[in-house]
Amino acid sequence: MQFSYVNPTQIQFGQGQIASIPSLLPADAKVLVIYGGGSIKRNGVYDQVKEALKDIPWQEFSGVEPNPTKETLDKAVAIVKSEGINFILAVGGGSVIDGSKYVAAASHYDGEGWDILEGKHQVTTAVPLAAVLTLPATGSESNMGAVITRAETHTKLAFLAPAVQPKFAVMDPDVMKTLPERQLVNGIVDAWVHVCEQYLTFPADAMVQDGYAEALLKNLKRLGEQFADRDNDSWRANLMWTANQALNGLIGAGVAQDWATHMIGHELTALYGVDHARSLAIVQPSLLRNQMATKQGKVEQMGRNVFGLADGDDLAERTVQAIEAFFHSLDVATQLTEHESSKAEAIDAIVGQLEQNGMVALGESQAITLNESRQILEKAV
Ligand code: NZQ
Ligand code: ZN
Repeated sequence: MQFSYVNPTQIQFGQGQIASIPSLLPADAKVLVIYGGGSIKRNGVYDQVKEALKDIPWQEFSGVEPNPTKETLDKAVAIVKSEGINFILAVGGGSVIDGSKYVAAASHYDGEGWDILEGKHQVTTAVPLAAVLTLPATGSESNMGAVITRAETHTKLAFLAPAVQPKFAVMDPDVMKTLPERQLVNGIVDAWVHVCEQYLTFPADAMVQDGYAEALLKNLKRLGEQFADRDNDSWRANLMWTANQALNGLIGAGVAQDWATHMIGHELTALYGVDHARSLAIVQPSLLRNQMATKQGKVEQMGRNVFGLADGDDLAERTVQAIEAFFHSLDVATQLTEHESSKAEAIDAIVGQLEQNGMVALGESQAITLNESRQILEKAV
């Protein structure tokens, strides 16, 4: 095992932590607060941020959509450049935080911002940014990834750069009180699949990464089982912290990673507007069955250690069934129902997008070619 690991984001966890923001900003900060469609105006988060920034120069940019678009974000880039902004504060869920990462990077680049997503521009510098998390799911608040959509072409791509990792992340579980049930469920499912993308590959005897991944999966399973009794501080805090730890770099350090479920899922979102988490629940079970030749050992380990299943010839299949049952218990579908075309047309469209975006050898051993993606989709669409 060999890896280099650092997570430089300072976490401010707990009730009332928005008030700590001024002590964490650079002395000369001129801040752009970026947020989404206005949920923060309705739940008091905006007012808390405003109070925290009362002695600091700041302005705002709102309207970042779920699955943030480059088209909207480029308007924020123009503001950063023209107003001399030197710090970005993202206040929202994964979309606002990812969008802010794009704004931070594109503001230090004179070319076309989309070059960053196409890998034509390597990000080495960005406006420093921080996050006030309002939706636990993506882990974006303390990682270096961002996923951006180009609305014009229905293209959804990711980029990774240490320069856009948030300097600090405020995680106050109280902000979750106004989250609709659908978004809370999405958070559980997204975090679940994040752990699996780093855990369900091939056995590497990585005791720390495996053990921690299993602890996180057991937490998510338990939080799902407690969903009806979720209106309490402990449930909210445990989900917020678990979702963060699922994608902060630790469990993926030094082990193989998959991410094929995400890459195929992104196309379902780009084409049919499926919520990110729900796209993953559609793809994952079918993908695991398709890739069982390499994944069997770890899937069986998950069956034993996460679901408490007994050994037996069909342990891997029973584990996939347990994952499906977990999603169904949260009322999350494992079949694509959003497309209006025929099944064959939908599969052709998704595979066409994968090909166009270069997603032709996915998974921990690049074994998921377009042919495998097609087979996976046959069972999921
Ligand atoms: O826009 P507002 O008004 O804020 O409403 C949002 C949005 O409609 C609402 N919301 C957020 N916090 C709320 C709230 N409503 C009430 N009370 C609150 N406290 O929830 C809706 C969904 O928000 P969004 O940010 O889109 O959700 P999520 O956090 O699930 O982010 C999804 C995006 O993150 C990307 C996805 O692809 C998708 O674009 N991902 C980013 C990753 C990363 N950076 O590491 C990894 C993930 O795998 C994922 O791909
Ligand atoms: Zn995800």
